Amino acid sequence: MNFRLRPMNENDIELTFKWRNDPLVRNNAQSVQEISLNEHAAWVKFNNSVKLIFEVDDIPAGFISVTRDPENNSGEWAFHMAPDMRGQGLSELMLKAALYYLAKKEGYDTIYSTVRVYNVLSKHLHEKLEFSKCGEDEEYIKYIFYL
Ligand SMILES: CC(C)(COP(=O)(O)OP(=O)(O)OC[C@H]1O[C@@H](n2cnc3c(N)ncnc32)[C@H](O)[C@@H]1OP(=O)(O)O)[C@@H](O)C(=O)NCCC(=O)NCCS
Repeated sequence: MNFRLRPMNENDIELTFKWRNDPLVRNNAQSVQEISLNEHAAWVKFNNSVKLIFEVDDIPAGFISVTRDPENNSGEWAFHMAPDMRGQGLSELMLKAALYYLAKKEGYDTIYSTVRVYNVLSKHLHEKLEFSKCGEDEEYIKYIFYL
């Protein structure tokens, strides 16, 4: 298998729109409602975030976005795997590649993540990647990682 991360482009809009409205993705996102294709396309063109596609053997398999804090080199990430690519242990690889890319190509020094308390898989992944917990309430756990 070959893996790579690349910046998202306009040709990815329709596919990532389908992923964004997938029930598991919405259920674990901070805004759970379905969005329209126009809303998604407008968000894609909004340039305050890095948006990356993870490819497996040249097939788009996952998505990572990172919204930059305009004041410093930190950002908040969000990610998902394509529904038909889940359960193969690929997410750790995708996220490790993303951390490397964000440090080396985008100059980030800190990544935050906000995870729903019931998202067992995401909590497990963040702990495996050695993110530290930096906040918690009834709904969310906040993690931090220094690159
Ligand atoms: C979170 C997500 C990216 C993980 O990708 P995935 O392909 O489903 O998961 P993987 O097959 O890579 O497995 C990830 C890890 O979770 C573990 N895992 C799987 N099911 C689990 C469960 N019920 N409880 C605990 N760990 C579990 C796997 O064993 C693996 O850990 P390991 O490598 O230590 O064995 C994917 O499920 C997804 O897109 N979810 C919807 C969006 C989302 O939740 N994004 C994160 C928002 S913060």
